[in-house]
Amino acid sequence: MDNAFSHPDRNLALELVRATEAAAIRAMPFIGRGDKNAADGAAVDAMRTFLGTVNFQGTIVIGEGEKDNAPMLFNGEVVGNGNGPECDIAVDPIDGTSLTAAGRGHAISMLAVADRGSMLDASSVFYMEKLVSGADGIGVLDITQSLGDNIRELAKKKRVSVSDIKVAILDRPRNVDAIEEIRSAGANTRLILDGDVAAGINSARPDSRIDMCYGVGGSPEGVATTCAIKALGGFIQGRLMPGSDEERERGAAAGLKFDYVYSADELVAGDNTFFVATGVTDGELVRGVRRDGPWLKTESIIFRSRSGTIRRVNSDYLVERWLD
Ligand code: FBP
Repeated sequence: MDNAFSHPDRNLALELVRATEAAAIRAMPFIGRGDKNAADGAAVDAMRTFLGTVNFQGTIVIGEGEKDNAPMLFNGEVVGNGNGPECDIAVDPIDGTSLTAAGRGHAISMLAVADRGSMLDASSVFYMEKLVSGADGIGVLDITQSLGDNIRELAKKKRVSVSDIKVAILDRPRNVDAIEEIRSAGANTRLILDGDVAAGINSARPDSRIDMCYGVGGSPEGVATTCAIKALGGFIQGRLMPGSDEERERGAAAGLKFDYVYSADELVAGDNTFFVATGVTDGELVRGVRRDGPWLKTESIIFRSRSGTIRRVNSDYLVERWLD
């Protein structure tokens, strides 16, 4: 039988993790300093520098936006050393810039990679309704059904009672009805202030305390999350939520579909995805970057779909070489 031993090959994410580690390290002095742009700027610079050393040709499909001045990991920018495979890349040097600035938990530095042409370019529509879970959700959850029904079905599949189900959801006015629906179904909310990439991944990860992640959050984050969900064999569906007629028109011109359920395979086609995250501040997914005497310590998590691998990488960096 063909398995991961039949054709062992290179795990690109093992090189990419240096870029998220560097971003987290450079963001560290800004944790709790109240300036999210400074934190983000430091992380962007560091990530960009390290991506330049990696043996691949990565076209940024999901980046920091279209910036016309300095090169800033913008959509369409090609990163990497120009050798190696052509890939799509989604970057978020900090998912949780406000969390970082406030000194709150759950901020990560992340990037995701897939074969060239496989990621949905949803950059013209900012928000997406997302439903994420582990493998138990496959064939069971359906974003077009009521949240209450989805919760009941998931509980049945997991053989737990509805009161055991925990749903992570962004604490936003636009999600208020959904929050109410989760609670009136008898399940529990885990309200998150920001960072629905980590929450989505946690809902699919073994040993996590979250069963499902639901709500309207960033659409780029939905595509990035899918790269990890594929490695976890989990479930994700998304529906684009344009905030204005203008955004809807822009999205339609870019070929995006509305009132349409995007499956995992439509968010990211194929089965060759990599996802890497390093903790900026402490969270359930990864610990945040911290200083211990002369050392900086980072924790990262790496997912690879083709081999079905999850790795945790702990690194120690000499402060004098990295921050002074
Ligand atoms: P940034 O830190 O990159 O700004 O994103 C944080 C985040 O919470 C995402 O995780 C989420 O998908 C999105 O913002 C939600 O957008 P909004 O803050 O506009 O509700």
